[in-house]
Amino acid sequence: MYRTHTCGQLRAANINETVTLAGWVQKVRNLGAMTFIDLRDRYGITQIVVEEHSAPEVKAVAEKLGREFVLQVKGRVIERSSKNTKIPTGDIEVVAEQLTILHDAEVPPFTIEENSDGGDDLRMKYRYLDLRRPPLQRNMILRHKMAQEIRRFLDSEGFLEIETPYLVNSTPEGARDFVVPSRMNPNQFYALPQSPQTLKQLLMVAGYDRYFQIVRCFRDEDLRADRQPEFTQIDCEMSFVEQEDVLEIFERWAKHMFKEVMGLELNEPLQRMPWIEAMEKYGSDKPDLRFGMEFSDLTDLAHGHGFSVFDEAEYITGFAAPGCAVYTRKQIDALTEFVKRQQIGAKGLVWIRVEEGGVKSSIDKFYTPEQVKAMADRCGAKAGDMVFILCGKKFKVLTQLCALRLEVAERLGLRDPKKFAPLWVVDFPLFEWDDETQRYYAVHHPFTSPKPEDVQYLDSDPGRVRANAYDFVCNGTEIGGGSIRIHDSKLQAKMFELLGFTPEQAQERFGFLMNAFKYGAPPHGGLAFGFDRLCSLFGGTDSIRDYIAFPKNNAGRDVMLDAPGFLDQSQLDELNLDLRKPKE
Ligand code: AMO
Repeated sequence: MYRTHTCGQLRAANINETVTLAGWVQKVRNLGAMTFIDLRDRYGITQIVVEEHSAPEVKAVAEKLGREFVLQVKGRVIERSSKNTKIPTGDIEVVAEQLTILHDAEVPPFTIEENSDGGDDLRMKYRYLDLRRPPLQRNMILRHKMAQEIRRFLDSEGFLEIETPYLVNSTPEGARDFVVPSRMNPNQFYALPQSPQTLKQLLMVAGYDRYFQIVRCFRDEDLRADRQPEFTQIDCEMSFVEQEDVLEIFERWAKHMFKEVMGLELNEPLQRMPWIEAMEKYGSDKPDLRFGMEFSDLTDLAHGHGFSVFDEAEYITGFAAPGCAVYTRKQIDALTEFVKRQQIGAKGLVWIRVEEGGVKSSIDKFYTPEQVKAMADRCGAKAGDMVFILCGKKFKVLTQLCALRLEVAERLGLRDPKKFAPLWVVDFPLFEWDDETQRYYAVHHPFTSPKPEDVQYLDSDPGRVRANAYDFVCNGTEIGGGSIRIHDSKLQAKMFELLGFTPEQAQERFGFLMNAFKYGAPPHGGLAFGFDRLCSLFGGTDSIRDYIAFPKNNAGRDVMLDAPGFLDQSQLDELNLDLRKPKE
């Protein structure tokens, strides 16, 4: 037997037992007469002692040990004279009677402890060493536990777990595809699914009325902390449902997850916020509701007083930052710089300092104190607050103010990862207009149904049509989203037309689904949650990478495997591929 116990198992109750442990040497401390070894596995750390009067062969092995050697220890559990209250095994230690090196180890490139001295790149290259560290092990355990709870809940609700293929055609999520050349079908390519969207709809046609899958999805898009090129969805679809049915069941699911994984009881029904309210109050379709600082439309108050910047602006909006009246010129300048640095940079930041004695602002030249106070009042500012105001094109300025709101909240320490503010965002627009290409795009995907009461505007005013679509949002992150699908072929044809597909193009891309619908499609709808994002939300860190065993870096590379890589000429020949020199 390699081991009788794990390195996290032994307690005072085991004193005097003879045990065998196996693990990695985290640290060796040689104090002359005695040597202490910290032996680690994923369950914890146990202190091993080699004493002055230990057998010479035991001492000889102890002398050879280095960090990360794989070691087997047989010995007796004794009470520690100086206890370590920081670790669960801190009351005991094991006096080594036999030491066996199972594998030696080169000096690792960074320390493998709770905190590491290794930089990001180095730790990614040696991911298997980083994964030995307790923080990452906790993350992997959390992810495992969550996966079990997801399955337990959905199984109990009658959902069937069904796998769908990875070698498919382009799916309609709108990112770039990863493609795979087909050897057997020269010059043809599979696309990896951006999600199993169309396949799960086919499963509904096939009569599997409750489906789920914890499934890998692939999207070739620019990476951020919450985006990986391959990521995992908790993908679900249901038949004979309306939006309300889907929200009801997945709200219970979300509460189940918070309770079973985090020990948090969410008793209240989750807030349902219309998209337009989320945009106007928080400047985002994924509002962070852990704190207030809601926006107020100041356009009517600010227009018409000779301040040309405001007079020329379509929309003027602001919020009160609590306790920020004490901000210095320098701090305000820093925030102004921050706003200008945003991708769609704002011109300038207007502020109103609200004090017991009255208001002071950067626009005092143009407005009377009463007019300035009216703006501060509308933002709900109290003495001690600072109001920040931006102006411009409506949705642009809302987005900019959102960035500022989050930045101010960050500085005020309001983005507490231990606090959770989940909500549903509903009533999304069906289409989004793109100035550049001068056409409408589906906000969600082309199978999302319009609200029945808005169908009348499909031709006359497509921008006004709201969708039967919903997002699950928590702490400023979109965790999941879905919709009720179109299952009426005429309406579907209309959608394709509005999205600029000719009937031939629509048939070519989505004919397989439209044809399937002809054989009887039930009304259906569903949603998908980002599993990695849910893990990082529960784990309390920003980057989803920390919850993926082998993630890619920001350039989409796996630096450990050194992928992607080049192909041999013979492989290229087999695939009928010629390569071009990459463009500079
Ligand atoms: P959507 O595209 O909104 O919907 O994706 C669903 C959820 O997947 C997560 N997600 C990602 N996570 C990590 N890295 C990425 N690159 C990434 N992209 C998306 C998000 C998101 O909310 N088929 C539809 C769902 C449906 O309609 O049923 C879909 O894929 O958390």
